[in-house]
Amino acid sequence: MRKIKLFRLLLVAGLLTSLVSCSKNASSFDEVVSARRSVRSYDPNRKISEDQVRTLIATVQEAPSWANVQATRFYAVMSDAKLKEAKAAMLNNQNTVADAPVLIVTTYRQGESGFFSGEAANEVGNGWGAFDAGLSNAFLVLKAKEMGFDTVIMGLRDANALRNALSIPSEEVIMSVVALGYGNQEPRRPERKALNEVLHIK
Ligand SMILES: Cc1cc2nc3c(=O)[nH]c(=O)nc-3n(C[C@H](O)[C@H](O)[C@H](O)COP(=O)(O)O)c2cc1C
Repeated sequence: MRKIKLFRLLLVAGLLTSLVSCSKNASSFDEVVSARRSVRSYDPNRKISEDQVRTLIATVQEAPSWANVQATRFYAVMSDAKLKEAKAAMLNNQNTVADAPVLIVTTYRQGESGFFSGEAANEVGNGWGAFDAGLSNAFLVLKAKEMGFDTVIMGLRDANALRNALSIPSEEVIMSVVALGYGNQEPRRPERKALNEVLHIK
C-alpha cells in the first residue's frame, strides 16, 4: 500500500515538474521577444568576440530556407579598419552605429532561393531570397537578445560602398545591416497595430 502511495506521489511530482518546465520554456521565448527592441546607441567599452559571433550565426543557420538552399550570407564586420569603412556607408544611421562593436551585413545569392534547376518556381522569383534573409535576421536578433546583446536591423545603407569595402560578390544582393553590441539606452516599445487589423481568420 505504502509503495503504491509513493509511486503515485512520484508520478504527480513528475507531471508537475514537466508542466513547470514547459511553461518556463514558453515564457522564456516570450521574454526574449518582448525584451528585444531596436537599439540605436551602443556602449563603446563593451566588445563582442569572434567566438560569440560564431555562436550567434551557428544558431541563425537553423532558420528555415527555400529547399534548404541556405542562400543567405553574413559579413560580420569587426576589425577597426573595416568597421570605419562600413560605418561610413550607413547614411542616416551613422549616429546609431557610431559605437557598435560589430556590424553584420546580410546578403543573399540570387537564383537559388525560389529556383529549381535555374528556373524561378513561381512569380516571387528572387523575392524568396529576400524572404529567407529576413527569416535569418529574425533568428539573429532574437538569438542575440538571448545572448545578452542588443541589435537594430537597418535597411538604410549605401549598398555599393558596402560591396566595395567588404568585397561582396556581384551575384549577392545586399539586404540589411544589423548593429550588434551592448545598448546603453532603454528603448521604448513602439505600438503595434490592433491584432484584428493584421490577422484575418477565414
Ligand atoms: C527591414 C527593416 C529595415 C529597417 N531599417 C531601419 C533603419 O534603417 N534605421 C533604423 O533606425 N531602424 C530600422 N529598422 C528598425 C525598425 O524601425 C523597428 O524594427 C520598428 O520601428 C519596430 O521597433 P522595434 O524593433 O523596437 O520593435 C528597420 C527594420 C526592418 C525590419
